[in-house]
Order: sequence, then structure tokens, then C-alpha cells
Amino acid sequence: MARTPFVAGNWKMNTNKASAIELAKGVAKGAPAGVQVGVATPFVYLDAVGQALAGSKVQLGAQDVYFEKSGAFTGEISVEMLKDLGVAFCLAGHSERRHVLGESSELVGQKARAIVAGGLTLIHCVGEKLEQRDAGHTLNVVQSQLEELRGSVEDPNSLVIAYEPVWAIGTGRNATDQQAQEVHAYIREAMGRMWNPDFANRVRIQYGGSMKPDNAAGLMAQRDVDGGLIGGASLKPDSFLAIVNAAK
Ligand code: 13P
Repeated sequence: MARTPFVAGNWKMNTNKASAIELAKGVAKGAPAGVQVGVATPFVYLDAVGQALAGSKVQLGAQDVYFEKSGAFTGEISVEMLKDLGVAFCLAGHSERRHVLGESSELVGQKARAIVAGGLTLIHCVGEKLEQRDAGHTLNVVQSQLEELRGSVEDPNSLVIAYEPVWAIGTGRNATDQQAQEVHAYIREAMGRMWNPDFANRVRIQYGGSMKPDNAAGLMAQRDVDGGLIGGASLKPDSFLAIVNAAK
């Protein structure tokens, strides 16, 4: 089954309004055919970046969302608000939200469900900490993070999994091609059990964690690696587009 690769930038808490617009325009200008491309920007720049991307193939994404529809949730943002600004996809369960901001598995599951129910594409992030890998628990951790999706997703096109080992994020120490492929293959197998093999074959699984222009081709050549979720290297058009081109 040929899956269209999907490379998304996660800008995290970086850029300002002017640099966000400039970065978006640079990405829009160079985005090639044959790869789905997106950028997940800070909330406050979604509108401006959406306008900068208008008419291009690059999709607008959000890094987080709250699961309630509206109401007294000071500081939070709803799926409807994201859709209002033209957002196409949204992350849930990023390791920084789980481990720095303290989001529980239950909250991640509620967010994932709201994203899919609202009609956005979900990028559901999973991945183990170093001590979990060292203890041999990688596959159990990933399996339990996939369980957060149980009962929430029916259409394989509405779901993307990002495997991001926590020890590889922002460290310059990427998973090897083999380490990535091993976990990606396991994720596809586990999805085959949770849904069915056809569903599992259609879902894109991105790798994330220190993906750079010089390691992207090797990682994305792996059978079950269908693109990337890029942090640091997504903050410059040149390095991000080099990774996008490596996915073709
Ligand atoms: P880096 O590419 O900076 O390691 O970040 C990966 C990531 O967390 C993307 O969501």
C-alpha cells in the first residue's frame, strides 16, 4: 500500500509574528509535489501564517487544543476556533505536553477524540523516555499511548501517528534507522490488532526526534516510516525543505 509521506514542522514556542510569516512563505515557495507538508505554529500566529500560506499546498496545523466545545475554560482554545482559522491538523500527546506540562493519558485521549470528532487530522504523538527504553518497556509504553485512541477514530485518513522517542527530541541523538523501523512496525501491528490490518496499512506513521537533512533520507527509507515531525530543523526553510524533499 503506497502511503503519501507527510512531513510536518512543529515550531513549538518559537518565532515571532514577522519571522513566522517569513518562514511560512519560504516553506510555501519550495514545497514539492508528492509529499504532504504542514506547519504547526504557535496559536497566536495561526491566522497570520494561514494567510501567508494561502494558495500554497502547505497545511496549517496547531500544536495543541482543548477538548471542550466552548465555555469557561480560561486560556484554552477549541477545535472550532482552530477550524475558523483554516487549521487542517492538530497534535495531541506531544512529549513536551505529557512530560513538561504534565498532561495525563486521559487528557491526551480526550483531546485526540475532540480533534477527530471535529474533522481535523490528528497527529497523535507517542514515544518512550530513555529509562523506559533501557528497561525494555518501549513497546509497552507505545501500546498504552495508542490505547488513548480506542473508540475515537474510524477513518484511517484522519489519523497520523508520530513516533517520537523522548530521548531523541531536541538532543541531536536521533533513533537509528533500525530502531525507528522496529517501533514503527510494532505500531502498525498494534493498530492492526486494535482496528484491522487494512486500517493499519493506511495510517501514516511519522518519525520525530532530531530528524535533520543528513539523517532524514535513511529514516524515511524504512518500510514503515511515512514522513517526519520536525522540531529544530523546521525553523529554517532550507533545512525543513531538505527533509521534505528526502521524503519523496
Ligand atoms: P526536534 O526535531 O527538535 O528533535 O523535535 C522533534 C519534535 O519534538 C517534533 O515534534
